Amino acid sequence: MNKALYAGSFDPFTNGHLFIYNQAKEIFDEVTILIATNPKKKKYFSESKMVDAIQSIPNVDCVACDSGLVADYCKEHGIKYLVRGLRNTSDYLYEEEIAKVNQEIYAELRTIYFRADNDVISSSLIRILYERDRDFSKYIPNEILEITH
Ligand code: COA
Repeated sequence: MNKALYAGSFDPFTNGHLFIYNQAKEIFDEVTILIATNPKKKKYFSESKMVDAIQSIPNVDCVACDSGLVADYCKEHGIKYLVRGLRNTSDYLYEEEIAKVNQEIYAELRTIYFRADNDVISSSLIRILYERDRDFSKYIPNEILEITH
């Protein structure tokens, strides 16, 4: 069985992320979303609520990264494919850095890129709209919208 992990901060999870997840599901037998921590980013929304909200989207599987690195998680769980989405060339350069480090930690790990359907949506855009009390409902799944109220 080909298992893949889609790791990210997902703060919050957006329709752009869901698109990437569904693309990965077309190829892999099992795809799990892992909410990871980027030490450069302070968490904005509750991580445990985000896990539950993502998990409540039909046919979506989500867990939180308890501790350690994404590559370690993959190794421990026998996952050889790491999914990431690319919106533009900046994403590619950023992702390549992470992919190389991950492969140093777990040599068998392969990072697979999927092309995004939208290069405007980002989690920080949602956070900006949220802080200014603007409508962002078209950018995130309904299940996520419920925890942002
Ligand atoms: N749709 C919408 N947004 C997208 C997107 C898409 N298809 N593709 C990328 N993005 C955006 C995200 O919304 C996010 O936006 P933001 O910067 O405005 O918040 C940005 O691209 C990057 O987000 P993300 O995928 O969450 O990347 P990240 O660098 O924050 O990911 C890690 C975090 C931990 C997965 C990554 O840094 C990593 O693997 N690091 C290696 C070290 C490690 O293992 N750390 C884990 C400790 S638990």
